Amino acid sequence: MSRFHEPQDPRFQRLNASLGVDRRLWPQDLAQSRAHARMLAARGILTEADRDALLAGLDAVELELREERFPFEAHDEDIHMAIERRLTEIAGPVGGRLHTARSRNDQVVTDLAMYTRERIGATQAALRELMTVLVARAEEHLDWPMPGYTHLQRAQPVYLSHHLLAYFWMLQRDRERFAFAERQSGRLPLGAGALAGVNFHTDRELLARELGFQEVAPNSIDAVSGRDFVLDYLGAAAICAMHLSRLGAELVLWSSSEFRFCELPGEWSSGSSIMPQKKNPDAAELLRAKAPRVVGHLAAFHGVMHALPLTYNKDLQEDKEHVFDAADTLEATLAAATGMTAGVRFDRERMRAAAADELIAATDLADLLVRLGMPFREAHGVVAGLVRTALEQGRSLSDLSAAELAAHSSLLGAHRADYQRVLAHDSWLESKVSYGGTSLARVREQLALARTTLRSSPEGDAHAPA
Ligand code: ARG
Repeated sequence: MSRFHEPQDPRFQRLNASLGVDRRLWPQDLAQSRAHARMLAARGILTEADRDALLAGLDAVELELREERFPFEAHDEDIHMAIERRLTEIAGPVGGRLHTARSRNDQVVTDLAMYTRERIGATQAALRELMTVLVARAEEHLDWPMPGYTHLQRAQPVYLSHHLLAYFWMLQRDRERFAFAERQSGRLPLGAGALAGVNFHTDRELLARELGFQEVAPNSIDAVSGRDFVLDYLGAAAICAMHLSRLGAELVLWSSSEFRFCELPGEWSSGSSIMPQKKNPDAAELLRAKAPRVVGHLAAFHGVMHALPLTYNKDLQEDKEHVFDAADTLEATLAAATGMTAGVRFDRERMRAAAADELIAATDLADLLVRLGMPFREAHGVVAGLVRTALEQGRSLSDLSAAELAAHSSLLGAHRADYQRVLAHDSWLESKVSYGGTSLARVREQLALARTTLRSSPEGDAHAPA
């Protein structure tokens, strides 16, 4: 296989070989080779007898791989060379004809594009599952008040349903990003040859149809050197993993003894080896910790591609490890997020009590003054003064007398009844009537939109299968 007399330095082989990583591309490689053999015969480049011998040989190779008895050899550089070697051992010299009008350069990127599309399909299904669970949990907790936070300080109350649906919309945008990455992986590189095209009238349209590609890559140089579909995939995966890390972080926080907003199911918790009372949210913590690893794959492979001269360079061999680990990591965390979200039990009373902190109504009090004619900035100052007085004297806002209110603002002194009404808990949430807000009517509207969104394709195509 080599024009050199010297055997390769084993240290070079260790660096150069990619078999340990790319062996999982064998199903794509076999599918591609079958389509390629059929196309060559259809174009008269191979005889039908040669095609049939190749297809039978590929079947035999597949059986060995499937049953994990494929005889890998120490000098197999990658899965593509290993399969071709074995095919030739099984089928005889005709095995050598399979590589007609094909280079490893268009072969590897075609396999990886097929693989990436398959993993995107699995990720899309997993995303839909998690989103379905989020909608169900939101419906179940439609009117459970909880504090909404900014700076992790109690800010304004919201319904738990509204908070859960926030994750739904993050994941919907992830679906859109994965759909984009899928389209970017949908241009067939095969047929580009080493870089310049091949010396045969091949039928790339036929290959594209057989292998499930939407179109044929129109430039052979771009086809063998481009990997931006990998970056699109890794980008979508990195953002999605980041979203899951935020969900994981909130589950850790909310299940802590300090919050006690929820309890994670036993199936998703670990005990401590030394402290019998502990119930550790390990899975939720790992949602946090796995995300930067996916981001790392994006950054690392972006670095590989940066300033890389055209066309194929061995640098590009690194693409696969990043895709494989990103996909494995993301799918494992998506499954865990789904399991935990489905099983977590929320504590209605704890959440309600935390949301009943009167200070949380400060914005609503300011809005009352606005409705009574005061500019918002001024109202903000008045309410800040009330909060200071109440905190200094260890009293609640609703304790303050009309005279005390009047000392801060005559307008407020004259409207103590309205003031008290604003401080009555239920008004805080139901006053958020704007589109996308937390009032029940708006959350119901949002739930309906979420259900429609789930029924349509990732990018909102209403004709897509349900
Ligand atoms: N294992 C290599 C890769 O993954 C195969 C391509 C090698 N092509 C070449 N011209 N050396 O990229």
